[in-house]
Amino acid sequence: MVKARKIVLVRHFKGEPRPEDFRIEEEDLPPLKDGQILTEAVYFSVDPFQRILGSGEKYGQKVGDTMIGAQVARIVESRAAGFPVGRHVVAYWGWRDRTVADVGPEVPPPDVMSPPMLVPDLGDLPLSLSLGVLGMPGISAYFPLLEVCQPKAGEVVVVSGAAGAVGSIVGQIALIKGCTVIGFAGSESKVKWLKDDLGFHHVFNYKTTDVSTALKQAAPDGVDVYFDNVAGDMSTKVMSHMRYRGRITVIGGISQYNEIESQKLVTLPFTFLANQLRIEGCSYSRWHDRWDEGISPLTQWVREGKLKYRETVTDGFVNTPKAFIGMLRGENFGKAVVKL
Ligand SMILES: NC(=O)c1ccc[n+]([C@@H]2O[C@H](COP(=O)([O-])OP(=O)(O)OC[C@H]3O[C@@H](n4cnc5c(N)ncnc54)[C@H](OP(=O)(O)O)[C@@H]3O)[C@@H](O)[C@H]2O)c1
Repeated sequence: MVKARKIVLVRHFKGEPRPEDFRIEEEDLPPLKDGQILTEAVYFSVDPFQRILGSGEKYGQKVGDTMIGAQVARIVESRAAGFPVGRHVVAYWGWRDRTVADVGPEVPPPDVMSPPMLVPDLGDLPLSLSLGVLGMPGISAYFPLLEVCQPKAGEVVVVSGAAGAVGSIVGQIALIKGCTVIGFAGSESKVKWLKDDLGFHHVFNYKTTDVSTALKQAAPDGVDVYFDNVAGDMSTKVMSHMRYRGRITVIGGISQYNEIESQKLVTLPFTFLANQLRIEGCSYSRWHDRWDEGISPLTQWVREGKLKYRETVTDGFVNTPKAFIGMLRGENFGKAVVKL
């Protein structure tokens, strides 16, 4: 009998998640049936959306459920055509080290998540990138920036959460497209990384700098594109600096995730009317069917050295909650993952 370890939710998060909100359990896995694979997780992803889903049943997770999340896993046994032993899959099986699952085109995808996907041959690139720049965060940056915001060379692009998995990719794609890039991040070391290593034109620590003052200095003629990862007061301030016909995509709102129940609708700044701005919320799942169309240029840019990636890797299954809490506190540069 094969055993699996899993991290389950002991209680819904109240405010910041705590280590006591999780517990490790074991379960026996059933023998494989036709159409199924047995996998061993290699990396877990820790992502901001897990903070929302763990907040209450209406957001997706019940007490006692395995904590939801993506992983990249090696196939160790297979009775499914097209999923051979030795290949890797990315799947939303949650924080569990071994999994028996149905795979293949006839398996319906979980609600808003991607169905299990085979990882293409990454050559000498790390497997963990399939959870980062060459995975969901990469898609979340690529399509909403290029298709929804349509930045043009010479335009000013602002990105919040700029040193994170999505934000660091957004800024670099905007640089590739010839834009002036302004980032906001939460520490001096992140500011330094974005400026010195990634080449952002202006970067500010939003914890110590007034956003309006920063934008008056860095974008005196206004902002054309705002890629919003964080929401809250900071985003309201950025929005009041938008230029005529500016475009905003709301991809995340991490500053609000600890108070999701008490979030209020605020009035949009008058500049929305005066400058005829456009704002659009985006989920990466909109581009499921065009995954390769996004991953292919991202892979090429990574190989050419035009798109740099950074990962914050935590070692060990048992440290997954710690990695998750640390990511929410801003301890990560680039993508936060756990190596099993
Ligand atoms: N819509 C979609 O399909 C989709 C897909 C992926 C991600 N997202 C969203 O995109 C955003 C970024 O996700 P990610 O995976 O790239 O995470 P990430 O940026 O790698 O990690 C989260 C970061 O959020 C920042 N943060 C935490 N509390 C904050 C606050 N109160 N105000 C401002 N920043 C805060 C921290 O950086 P600092 O040190 O800079 O504070 C932290 O490192 C999240 O809101 C996420 O939910 C949406």
